[in-house]
Amino acid sequence: MVGHGGTGARGRLASCVGLIVIAISTPGCSSSNRPASPAASSTPVLWGELKPVVSVKELMRDMLDPAADNIFDAVKIVYTKEGTVETIPKTDADWEKIRIGAVTLAEGVYLLKIPRPFAPPGDENNSTGPDAPELSPAQIKAKLESDLVLWNAKIEALRNVGLEVLEIVKNKKVDELWDAGGNLDQACESCHIQYWYPGDRAVLEKLDRRLQEMNERSRGPDRAGRGR
Ligand code: HEC
Repeated sequence: MVGHGGTGARGRLASCVGLIVIAISTPGCSSSNRPASPAASSTPVLWGELKPVVSVKELMRDMLDPAADNIFDAVKIVYTKEGTVETIPKTDADWEKIRIGAVTLAEGVYLLKIPRPFAPPGDENNSTGPDAPELSPAQIKAKLESDLVLWNAKIEALRNVGLEVLEIVKNKKVDELWDAGGNLDQACESCHIQYWYPGDRAVLEKLDRRLQEMNERSRGPDRAGRGR
């Protein structure tokens, strides 16, 4: 029979709608009729927890440094007695290696946002004695914690070089790889000078100026101060 309002699903829905007016959060009413709570409506900032495995020092040695080498080593000129040997990417595999480096840097550098030890337990860096060249892990940590904005700016600077290299790979612009290598070196060193061996700043600035002058005369990759 038709016209039996008040029974069955339609009836339950009707009474539910009536209740919503009175008590919006009554459990049992269709949840789609309720305004979502903030927790339910916003996507979580991260999909899960982030837990570090290694110290900053090991992350550098085992991830960021090898990834950077994929880019640094992609273009170079070696002068020998026999003549000059130029390396540039030629094959798809050559470009793939550069892309892997760029993605690893751009994504991997964000792992430096996860609080983690700076060095493995017991490793104090080269930080003892007079004129110690490096800061201790505790000194680095104190510096970072005094200005998180600066730490994150250094992270973004490196990420930006990663993005720059990705663009270069997309368009296979060999020429631009030379400058990108210089930018990469700059992004690494400007963080190291700030947090790891600040005493070297004056020396390196002088070196940088000298290299810049040299570069103005003959254009080439600037890799000053690498490998510390
Ligand atoms: C946001 C800051 C930051 C950036 C950017 C950064 N580093 Fe580091 N790096 C550090 C700090 C801090 C240490 C010293 C950690 C320690 O020894 O306590 C370090 C240490 C290192 C070490 C020494 C590892 C060892 O085994 O002694 C290498 C190599 C290194 N970085 C390479 C790089 C390269 C290459 C880049 C750029 C592609 C880079 N880093 C970018 C902060 C940074």
